Amino acid sequence: MTIRFDGKVAIVTGAGIGLGRSHALGLAARGAKVVVNDLGVAADGQGRSSAEADAVVAEIIEAGGEAMAHGADVSNEAEVKDMVQQAMDKWGRIDILINNAGILRDKTFSKMTLDDFKKVVDVHLIGTATVTHTVWPIMREQGYGRIVLTASSSGLYGNFGQSNYGAAKAAMMGLMNVLHMEGARDDIRVNTLAPTATTRMTEELFSPEVGELLRPETITPGVLYLVSEDAPSRVIMGAGGGSFAQTRVYETKGITLAGDDITPENVAAQWDKVTDPTDQEILTQAFEQTGKYAKNAADLAGIKLEK
Ligand code: NAI
Repeated sequence: MTIRFDGKVAIVTGAGIGLGRSHALGLAARGAKVVVNDLGVAADGQGRSSAEADAVVAEIIEAGGEAMAHGADVSNEAEVKDMVQQAMDKWGRIDILINNAGILRDKTFSKMTLDDFKKVVDVHLIGTATVTHTVWPIMREQGYGRIVLTASSSGLYGNFGQSNYGAAKAAMMGLMNVLHMEGARDDIRVNTLAPTATTRMTEELFSPEVGELLRPETITPGVLYLVSEDAPSRVIMGAGGGSFAQTRVYETKGITLAGDDITPENVAAQWDKVTDPTDQEILTQAFEQTGKYAKNAADLAGIKLEK
């Protein structure tokens, strides 16, 4: 089965270079009409230019596809509204949103200014929320939507010097979990990408040979699946250099203490059991955890739960 996007309209943020450019070209090559959004900033978010987005649009049109550029700052609500309105005026629908725009302001937490912390959260988290919130009613009305959020291994696993970025990227998981639930009724599917690619963000990390293996184009096929008709929902997909994997959160079985036994000493004494991965499980919604703790406590107290 070939994955195609004929008749579909997509917005890709931060699509002038790097991963976003690759996603935009990939969508257009398979039939999507693409809004190539980019603010055209330096890696730290400074400056502004429309040249990169214009070049991607020219490349798509040259190859016979359809695209329009828009220079909205994803964290600016008025500019995002203008972008979405222009896409609606031109193509009448928005089926796919890939939230990809991003910046870095790395410093250890002790040296980082709060302004740098807020700026990174603003672009990644508030920017993603702003564009998603603007297309959300359109997707609900259509009864169709495919959304990708872009996280990072830094948010999922931690990376020294990236407290702002790690916090903003980890927030993608929380946003995805809830949007997955709220969007399901209207066939809006929401997934998260955690990429590893050679771009200006990472160019110093790899040798030229390995860098070549980690081109953004090795990740885009997985993203295209995540925004296709048959996409899954609520998946955090790690991808890079041809590897594709799912990241998940597990909860251990844990322990349950009761009454006067609920002490710091008893938590410490049983820490091995608290953290023992045997029988760990994946919880699929908040109330499963709430219910688990209520049941554990009730069982120990000899109380029968209603359900
Ligand atoms: P990049 O720096 O090559 O491209 C980012 C693009 O976003 C740039 O074109 C920039 O102008 C645009 N942008 C920045 N702020 C914007 C704003 N406020 N509004 C609109 N556009 C804006 O970065 P790269 O590597 O392609 O990263 C893309 C996404 O993937 C980012 O969210 C990044 O955090 C994430 N990521 C990348 C990894 C990698 O290995 N390259 C690793 C993990 C996550």
